[in-house]
Amino acid sequence: MPSADHSVFIGTANHGYGQQAQEEIRRLFGSETKFSFMVPTEIFMFSVPVSRAEAVASLLEREPMFLRHMQPVDVELEWNGSIDTLQDAILAGFRLAAGTKLAVQVRKTEQVQSGLSAGVCKQAIDSVLTEACHIAPVVKDAELILSVFLTPQTAYAGLSRPEDNLSDWPGGAIRFRREEGQVSRAKFKLLEAEQAFGLDFTQYRSAVDIGAAPGGWTSLLLERGVKVTAIDPAKLDAGLLKHPKLTYYPKNAGDVRLQPDAFDLLVCDMSWNPRQMAKLVKGLLHALQQGGTAIVTVKLMHKKPFQTVRELLEDLAPALTLQKAKQLFHNRDELTLFLIKA
Ligand SMILES: C[S@@+](CC[C@H](N)C(=O)[O-])C[C@H]1O[C@@H](n2cnc3c(N)ncnc32)[C@H](O)[C@@H]1O
Repeated sequence: MPSADHSVFIGTANHGYGQQAQEEIRRLFGSETKFSFMVPTEIFMFSVPVSRAEAVASLLEREPMFLRHMQPVDVELEWNGSIDTLQDAILAGFRLAAGTKLAVQVRKTEQVQSGLSAGVCKQAIDSVLTEACHIAPVVKDAELILSVFLTPQTAYAGLSRPEDNLSDWPGGAIRFRREEGQVSRAKFKLLEAEQAFGLDFTQYRSAVDIGAAPGGWTSLLLERGVKVTAIDPAKLDAGLLKHPKLTYYPKNAGDVRLQPDAFDLLVCDMSWNPRQMAKLVKGLLHALQQGGTAIVTVKLMHKKPFQTVRELLEDLAPALTLQKAKQLFHNRDELTLFLIKA
């Protein structure tokens, strides 16, 4: 159980990257940090030798690239799979003021008995909170999140501010609605980057999109009112070609000549060897204004992500300085960098 010099959390990373998230957490808190996987390679419990407030402050200040979500474990409740026990345990475990703007998020392992879905458990907790505590749980814009993680014998529950969880989506699994005629799923990556890095693309004037086809990223930037120069030898979606704010070069980016300082935003989502990609981007950096933003997807090669990122940042320095690197929910074997031109 948590105490003044010890705190417990459940961390979530993209499938296959739990180990990397653990490595980053261990670097922050040292060798006394303990881990145990709850869902292989992805969801794990970790306990750190500092108070919860200190742990959260450190994790927010030096946010691990591979930790998508965290939730505190304030109480560990034995349960037998019965909904009544779960409801009683939540009421006994937390004192909640009437009218609190609270979101309830429930996740579970696959081993929890079939037929007992996370949705059913959430509804049961929502209804007992409404009846017993006069709280009508919300889905968005909560002041507090009650996170519940269920395994066959134990319910782990914690109460926290949404910002202390790194994401206000359960497990950081942010979902966007697929639109009719959407050009590519890759669009979700840039949408998520906009949120994760606290950006507002409507504030940009002119962007260059390197490796733009079929055009998901380009379409999002056009929707935000940005003028876009899209570069890709592959075909851009036909629906985008008539857009008045689009310039399209159907070429290899290495063969395009761009005007100096023409753009305040550079985005690049090429599935390339990162060092080759860095060389290409550097060759076009004269076109990005000083103080301009770059959003770059990095393909993770041979499962050595820390080395890959280190080398790439060395290649891009001193022209580009890192603001934040994050493996987004919509990244596969890659992560996304937010950089500023010095
Ligand atoms: C993952 S896709 C980009 C998806 C895009 N962001 C979207 O939202 O639709 C990668 C693209 O990079 C392009 N590409 C690869 N090498 C390139 C180069 N040297 N110059 C320009 N584009 C390149 C490929 O043709 C491919 O269309």
